[in-house]
Amino acid sequence: MTAAPGALSRYAAPTELVYGPGSIKRLGAEVKRLGGTKVLLVSDPGLAKVGLVARAEASLAEAGVAFTTDYNVPLDPTFADVDRLVAVIRANGSDTVVSVGSGSVLAAGRSSAVAATHEGPSSLIAGVDKSTNAPLLSICVPTTAGSGGEVSRQATITDDHGHKSGIQGWAVAARLAILDAELCVSAPKRQAVASGVDALVHALEAYVSNRHSPLTDALALPAFEIMYHDLPKAIANPTVEVYDRLLLASTMANLACGNAGLGLIHGLNKGITYLFHTGRYATLSYGDLHSVIMPFVNAFNIQAAPERFAVLARLMGVPAGVPDAEAAAQSVDLIKDWLAGLGAPRRLPWDSCPPEDVDTIVNDVNGRIMAKDNPRASTAEDLRQMVLDCVKGW
Ligand SMILES: [Fe+2]
Repeated sequence: MTAAPGALSRYAAPTELVYGPGSIKRLGAEVKRLGGTKVLLVSDPGLAKVGLVARAEASLAEAGVAFTTDYNVPLDPTFADVDRLVAVIRANGSDTVVSVGSGSVLAAGRSSAVAATHEGPSSLIAGVDKSTNAPLLSICVPTTAGSGGEVSRQATITDDHGHKSGIQGWAVAARLAILDAELCVSAPKRQAVASGVDALVHALEAYVSNRHSPLTDALALPAFEIMYHDLPKAIANPTVEVYDRLLLASTMANLACGNAGLGLIHGLNKGITYLFHTGRYATLSYGDLHSVIMPFVNAFNIQAAPERFAVLARLMGVPAGVPDAEAAAQSVDLIKDWLAGLGAPRRLPWDSCPPEDVDTIVNDVNGRIMAKDNPRASTAEDLRQMVLDCVKGW
């Protein structure tokens, strides 16, 4: 299914990209070019410890740009974390936020650049297009090939109730992203798999989304192909060359889903993550959770977009002679094989999930736009079954 003829569509990609191995050395010069004078450099404690952020510090120092640092962003940051960054920005008079890290760091840093120009706590601008003032200069430097947060107009932030909320709108998109594969090559294997799976899901869900277009397909298909073929290579033998391709592919995948939308893989991920926050269930990382969910959603979706799943199957190596319907069916197993080869988890680490908690997930998913963008409409019973499948595993 595609958008109805005459439906209004919009494509935007406001983030300028500088990419290539060693491009972090450009950071200081780029801040100056864009008019920044006082930087808050944001990261997490792990990256600070392994010396990756030091490369950003070196470039700023070499260019003579003043900076202060905050390397305390946790995984899955909250609005309180954003408020803390805003306080640091105000205390130092920073006019620029440079975020160096994984999706969590980029989300917190980008949110702080928006919240710093607004009164009150950052939770007041949660939601879509709630910010009214121009943000500070925001620059992102991803250290994983995954979320694509460096080009996203959505920053996922957890609210006081454990819900994945966030700040959405073009104000939260970075002005510039620097894609340097040298910063990604030493990522821990488990994290590299989880991040890479997220990027592949961005490409896949954008390609089969109800809002796909030739413009987003042009980004989604090569991104899917690169993630599928190169992620296993990067896990077996991480080189700058292979990460250079993966990093660009993960950015392309986010540009695709940022404009075409996502589907039930992301929808169920957010719903299940909500139960994680109750503290009553063992957790999985965001990317690992995609690995559990993806085969069940793909199997559900095939009948709504068989020709699209057939195209993906060809990219995974199914020969042209195989009829489309058969190729589409094979795509489900090919992705399972791919996930298994990466050592990704196959089931939720739960013994069971009582009906009232299943319904909590289903209600959360049904309230999200991902359920509408998904190529096949789902009933509550369909979603309940998918949750139970995730408990049982594939
Ligand atoms: Fe994602």
